Amino acid sequence: MPDKATTLILFGATGDLAARMLLPSLYALHRDGLLPVDLKIVATSRSAHDDASFRAHARAALEAHVPATFIDDAAMGAFLALLTYVTLDATDAAGYQRLAAAVPAGGETAIFLSTAPSLFKPTIDNLEAVGLAGPHVRLALEKPLGSDLASSRSINDAVAAAFPEERTFRIDHYLGKETVQNLLALRFANLLFEPVWSSAHIDHVQITVSETVGLEGRADYYDGAGALRDMVQNHMLQLLALVAMEPPSQLDATAVRDEKVKVLRSLRPIRSEDSVTGQYGAGAVGGKPVPAYAEELGGASGTETFVALKAHVDNWRWAGVPFYLRTGKRLPDRRTEIAIQFRALPHSMFASRGARAAPNRLIIAIQPEENITLELMAKQPGLDRGGIRLREVELDIEQADAFADVRRRIAYERLLLDLVEGDPTLFVRRDEVEAQWQWIDGIRAVWEGAGTSPRPYAAGNWGPSAAIALIERDGRSWND
Ligand code: BG6
Repeated sequence: MPDKATTLILFGATGDLAARMLLPSLYALHRDGLLPVDLKIVATSRSAHDDASFRAHARAALEAHVPATFIDDAAMGAFLALLTYVTLDATDAAGYQRLAAAVPAGGETAIFLSTAPSLFKPTIDNLEAVGLAGPHVRLALEKPLGSDLASSRSINDAVAAAFPEERTFRIDHYLGKETVQNLLALRFANLLFEPVWSSAHIDHVQITVSETVGLEGRADYYDGAGALRDMVQNHMLQLLALVAMEPPSQLDATAVRDEKVKVLRSLRPIRSEDSVTGQYGAGAVGGKPVPAYAEELGGASGTETFVALKAHVDNWRWAGVPFYLRTGKRLPDRRTEIAIQFRALPHSMFASRGARAAPNRLIIAIQPEENITLELMAKQPGLDRGGIRLREVELDIEQADAFADVRRRIAYERLLLDLVEGDPTLFVRRDEVEAQWQWIDGIRAVWEGAGTSPRPYAAGNWGPSAAIALIERDGRSWND
């Protein structure tokens, strides 16, 4: 791994992500003494600020987004003192001299681009021209990393011309979530699961990422993307890859990502009948009336706000095991969850006494609560005069209780620290992102060929009824 960075340059420093996630994460890391003591943070964006006015802006962002109990004056003052600001139009080559001058000589530099992807290439060219590329500089990029395989390749080519792959940190913030990393621990730090983790014992897998929010003022981006490209291409495929991958030989960036990419390349192209798209109409979420997507947008649109897919990983381990994925906006609750449904018993001796043994299920809840639940069968206490009774019981690990003494960190704390320290394990490699796009492009081509347009669903429902039919026609049901 390279040395720790001594300078962090933050592009898009006055943007929404910086205010909600990046500045609060950096503040928390600094407060906890986790950032290198000599780290300088150079913030930049087009907005006109000097150091003092940007620090005031950053203070306001922290006060709005960091829980009051974590804010203390001394820590805040010390953090704000790290920040300097350079006003810069990312496309204006001349301005980059000022940026380069703000970076102390020597040491490693980490650059975080939280800007529109259309700015990636000009920014990278301009950085290179002033020497902010090369062996002592690493680059992190926020999504969206393209809108299809071709545009993703052209971003990746522009990056590769100035930064080698091992210095390129592509962000998928799901990989920074504690429970997502815990998937690795669950699978590979326990002996119990791996022997049953295959088509021999697993009937199917469900991955749900449901959201209650709607457009959130992101019409420009979201209406061009839709649920498939916004959520499935990145976050959901990363979850699928972590569930399905072979055990890596060690916990390092190459071994883990080698295994994930094999899964992504084994995804079978989706047929039209294996997908359902939807768009929310007016309805109610959490008891509150909400307008239709088209109304929020201010016009009709063919963009999907919901997608359900039946996917297959065509390899030895997963032959015949469907992976049902669904995600959408304005669904009944906010929930990210992976459900592993085991097969039925090959033979139940309890059947002769009239008792039914339901198949086991492992539920990995990622948010909002983090917990792992194993559903097991147990005998209901009693003398069993009328026949034995079995009942489902839950073996529950509430992460919040099990680790009550540990503060839950937001994903960007982990990712920014790894960027500063130079560890790319939790970042997405070029071959992964391109394999993801290849599969997604195939789905979009099928939709285009079939003339698929999103079916309406009322906000506050689990998508269109066809999404329920997608799984029920296989004799299974969503875990609601
Ligand atoms: C982002 C998507 O990548 O992830 C958003 O662009 C979505 O549309 C968000 O709301 C969900 O993230 P989280 O961490 O709230 O599940």
